[in-house]
Amino acid sequence: MSSVENSVLAEKIAALKKEKRAIILAHYYTDGAVQAVADFVGDSLALSQKAAGVDADIILFAGVRFMAETAKVLSPDKKVLLPVVEAGCSLADSCSAADLARVKAEYPDHLVVAYVNTSVEVKALTDICCTSSNALKIVEGLPKEQKILFVPDRNLGGYINKCTGREMKLWDGACLVHEEFSAEAIEALKKAHPQAKVVVHPECRAEVVQLADYAGSTAGILSYCGESEAEEFIVATESGILYEMENRYPTKRFYPVPKSGACEGCISCLDMKKVTLENIYETLLNESPKVVIDEEMRVKAEKSITRMLAGS
Ligand code: 13P
Ligand code: SF4
Repeated sequence: MSSVENSVLAEKIAALKKEKRAIILAHYYTDGAVQAVADFVGDSLALSQKAAGVDADIILFAGVRFMAETAKVLSPDKKVLLPVVEAGCSLADSCSAADLARVKAEYPDHLVVAYVNTSVEVKALTDICCTSSNALKIVEGLPKEQKILFVPDRNLGGYINKCTGREMKLWDGACLVHEEFSAEAIEALKKAHPQAKVVVHPECRAEVVQLADYAGSTAGILSYCGESEAEEFIVATESGILYEMENRYPTKRFYPVPKSGACEGCISCLDMKKVTLENIYETLLNESPKVVIDEEMRVKAEKSITRMLAGS
């Protein structure tokens, strides 16, 4: 779409937001054009904090389904809209509620800590949620002797085990996007840019996280790039973050890690990229698709999220 078409749609979206008292929350992994029309852009933790306290009648969530569900759980009286209902998450899909219920029954003495990248049904079976921003803090806040089942991200769970010295039992799930980053592609970029610092999301595999000068959530990575004296960064997380990086720090240089073996081509989450200005406009206009959650399920899921927010 041309930039003129983009700005016409952006104006129509702004008019609808005003008319309907709607706000748009967007994740850093969405397209730059989508982030540009959002009222608030953040990582998973900041977005759930925002959703819990927002003053609006409608929340349009520019992101994937588990994020919009979390917003609905925290703001049940608001209309929560998700432009593309099929916008899922490989990590959330790697842990079904039926499988979790079965494993919980095998480990009745384990507390379930779940990454927010899970369905509302899984959150309803969870004791406490976490995001990549607060996972260390949440786990360290639990008594040392407490046994923990960490779901669904084996990479984030392994990273926390390494940092804390704990031996949480890990679910065997992963984000298929972050699994694409390779140590070999990072090493090649380091050779080309020896001064650059390496920033990595902990959803990446251990051998990739091991190369990081900084490992953390998308918001953590953004802060690190601002606070660091370095001028160049090798970026091992989803490519949408480059929009905010380049906006915030226009004099610094960012090198996205390409797919292994490829000389170009960023690693992107196709589900996040399903959100477009066109479907945001249609969704706001029709006030549909809406997120609907059974009240009993919502109340159960809410406990695990509010427990996280209280400890963040
Ligand atoms: P954060 O928003 O916590 O950085 O997580 C990244 C992610 O993969 C969201 O889907
Ligand atoms: Fe899920 Fe990975 Fe996409 Fe995040 S980047 S929404 S964890 S598939």
